[in-house]
Amino acid sequence: MIKNHNIFKIFAAVEISKIYSRNLSKLPGDSIESRVIAIEENIRESDTWRRLEQVCSEAGETDPAQLARDEDFWDLIARSIYEPEGPFLNLNHGSINTMPIPVIRAQEAYTRLCNELPGYWFFEGFNTHREKLRAKLAVLLRTNPEEVSIQRNTSSAMETAIFGIPISEGDEVILSKQDYPTLVYAWKQREIYDGVKLKWVDVPLPSEDDDALIQPYLKAITEKTRVIQVMEMFNWNGQIVPVEKLRDKIGNHDIALLVDGAHIPGQLPVNLEKAAYTYWGASLHKWISGPVGTGVLSVRKDWISRTKPLFGASDPRSDDIRKYENFGIHNTPKDLALHTAIDLFNLIGEENKRQRLHYLKNYALERLSEIKKVQIKTSLKPQYSCALGMFSIEDIPSEVVGHILFDQHKIYNVAPVWGGLDGVRISPNIYHSTADMDRLVEAVNKIAKA
Ligand SMILES: Cc1ncc(COP(=O)(O)O)c(C=O)c1O
Repeated sequence: MIKNHNIFKIFAAVEISKIYSRNLSKLPGDSIESRVIAIEENIRESDTWRRLEQVCSEAGETDPAQLARDEDFWDLIARSIYEPEGPFLNLNHGSINTMPIPVIRAQEAYTRLCNELPGYWFFEGFNTHREKLRAKLAVLLRTNPEEVSIQRNTSSAMETAIFGIPISEGDEVILSKQDYPTLVYAWKQREIYDGVKLKWVDVPLPSEDDDALIQPYLKAITEKTRVIQVMEMFNWNGQIVPVEKLRDKIGNHDIALLVDGAHIPGQLPVNLEKAAYTYWGASLHKWISGPVGTGVLSVRKDWISRTKPLFGASDPRSDDIRKYENFGIHNTPKDLALHTAIDLFNLIGEENKRQRLHYLKNYALERLSEIKKVQIKTSLKPQYSCALGMFSIEDIPSEVVGHILFDQHKIYNVAPVWGGLDGVRISPNIYHSTADMDRLVEAVNKIAKA
């Protein structure tokens, strides 16, 4: 519980809570701490959680590469924490992951608790737990909690940086034609209203050549460059970009590196302290499988005071990362249920999950590549891809392939056309099996032969 702070100096999770809070620490009968701890314990003691712990402990020290091919192990994981999929095969986890059962239960339990006395829980009760969440996220992302802001998604994280970064008319921003639409729109607004100059580069996708991936950015740098925006993993075809190599070659430390890490947490290990990017944004409803509407922004400490918040704060020049969290009233229970999502992710194991996702996507793409007329648009190498894969069929528009897969074969997918890329994107989850991938391959085979 945050007490006795001067509201004009210190940022709470939500500053307004300082005004409403009367520093109540007790609800009749129960302390705040014990109510929240009871929820956490309930989840840990549930049959679902215990089953998962047992499955994971039996896997013990098995090599992740070997475990990735163990259908029985992943079937047990699927049956422990996921509900059956129903008639649809969901191959679009790239947009939003399916929430595991314990995460749904946590969100429901926090919602019920909050509902007892909503204002109280929002303004007072959940504050300490929000700070615990910040600390937990910092461990997950291997960084300092004072550089971690709890956000709603990648768009809000990245747009906080885009609209807050101190640049003005004539300053140049380098970004790619394949960047994510919400971010492109945000930069175009800065171009319209503030006169910043956007320099568009074309990234060759797919590519297994580090130099080819970073050179377009490096070549576009001039003495007016102030920002480089780069995707760590392109959402369209899953291309991983060697952003740390790009950072090392930029040289000029006044250029801010704004990294879209939307798909990284939960797919690839993150070490933000080592990466030392200026800004990094990601979604936690993607591969961490957190509640829908959860994300994170990291701002390097020396840039926080220079970067103004998107929503007003009492001291916009403060170097307190919490100044980026003045959204007004929002759905705190979903943020708190992130605790469960992260615990669950850690239990399964970062490397186990990465290797399984990569294995499943490769299993599908390798078999698709054997079908006449199918073109694969994603590298199969682990340094250049993980869970996301893209393919197309010669002479059939990808949009049409995507529709047939959904309408006739009940296989949910996305078929994006953006920045020169055109294909069907698949993004399986760890609860899928190789039999599910065979179902996709069989369907594509039929479409290609029709
Ligand atoms: C690369 C990339 N950036 C940004 C976003 C925006 O994420 P969100 O919708 O969670 O704000 C997405 C969403 O899919 C994405 O794939």
